[in-house]
Amino acid sequence: MVRFFTAGESHGQGLVIIMEGVPAGLPISEDYIGGHLARRQKGYGRGGRMLIEQDRAKIISGVRHGHTLGSPIGMNLENKDWANWKEAMAVDPLEGPPQSPRTQRVTRIRPGHADLPGVMKYGFDDVRNVLERSSARETAGRVAAGAIAIKLLEEFGMRVRSHVISIGPVHAEPPEKIDWEAVEESPVRCADPDAALKMAAEIDAAKEAGDTVGGACEIIVENVPIGLGSHVSWDKKIDSLVAQALMSINAVKAVSIGPGWEVAEQRGSQVHDVILPVTDPDRPWQRNTNRLGGTEGGMTNGMPLVARFGIKPIPTMVTPLPSVDLDTGEEVLSHFERSDVCQAPPACVVGEAMVALTLADAFMEKFGGDSISETRYNLEGYIKTVGPRKIYQ
Ligand SMILES: Cc1cc2nc3c(=O)[nH]c(=O)nc-3n(C[C@H](O)[C@H](O)[C@H](O)COP(=O)(O)O)c2cc1C
Repeated sequence: MVRFFTAGESHGQGLVIIMEGVPAGLPISEDYIGGHLARRQKGYGRGGRMLIEQDRAKIISGVRHGHTLGSPIGMNLENKDWANWKEAMAVDPLEGPPQSPRTQRVTRIRPGHADLPGVMKYGFDDVRNVLERSSARETAGRVAAGAIAIKLLEEFGMRVRSHVISIGPVHAEPPEKIDWEAVEESPVRCADPDAALKMAAEIDAAKEAGDTVGGACEIIVENVPIGLGSHVSWDKKIDSLVAQALMSINAVKAVSIGPGWEVAEQRGSQVHDVILPVTDPDRPWQRNTNRLGGTEGGMTNGMPLVARFGIKPIPTMVTPLPSVDLDTGEEVLSHFERSDVCQAPPACVVGEAMVALTLADAFMEKFGGDSISETRYNLEGYIKTVGPRKIYQ
């Protein structure tokens, strides 16, 4: 089982990541993980925090001489901003009166954040005790673990990509063949240059108004073997596992596999992907379309996996919404703390990580193995069995 945990507060000393289930022999480096962390930090509409943090995950276990050992991989991701929060986020009780204004209790609840349910549920009288962990800083830990999952999938020929498909009311019309290098260069991670300009303008307009704006992302994984996940039990279905993984990302409010809601408005002939006669033994079960996003019956079907998600606008706004004070229940303006304007471009990178972690788990469940070479042997043996039954078996 490939699984991971993160620990850490937004302005604490840093994030700790533990990942388990990666077979031995996978080449991995801090530079490779750092490349993915840097991609999460880019993006038009990000706030000042990104200028402070230049993320670097330090590997502290599970890797030796550039390759995984099969043991749990431990990583530390320092928060550079910690230097400014040492008193406010100290582990030990404070001695004497607080020196830093940051240590003051936060009582102005932000609508749309975890503030209100969090303080009620955990019995706090300081919103900081909740906002520190509910902050999307935690997603840096997911991207660090996700980088290792992406590397594992790449080792077996898969490619994980992402792009922004809308910001506010602006929708991209990406070309059929996406230039992925151009997407990496695009400040809004958009494959449609005209829409990208309009998206940037939409972010500028929201910023100008002291407001925030949401968006949607698409994750595509190419070369996924047929048969990951299973139809046999509800909790093995790959589409449901991907949906949970993406829905768990902060601010995500909708997830679809392929076109999602659109299928409810269409006829069967417009939705299903016709299976073509097998002409090439090495590439059986081809289709001319991938309208369903690469899953059927809770299993990958050999076509690229395509998942989309929609994220709401960031709840922390320069022009705060009216809210209430936690102490008095009286009307106040909600708390503002340095914040992004639009998180769609970095959320794409987090989405890649969550999809990769889900697929890596399903891949290892299907093919197993304690070393990369054993897993490869198992995969290759399986691939030999997937042709038409009376010809190739
Ligand atoms: C990459 C990323 C960055 C985010 N940045 C911020 C931010 O700067 N300020 C903020 O209030 N919310 C931000 N959010 C959203 C909040 O973390 C999220 O709305 C909050 O945790 C409440 O969870 P919910 O929206 O899922 O209910 C960000 C989300 C993501 C994915």
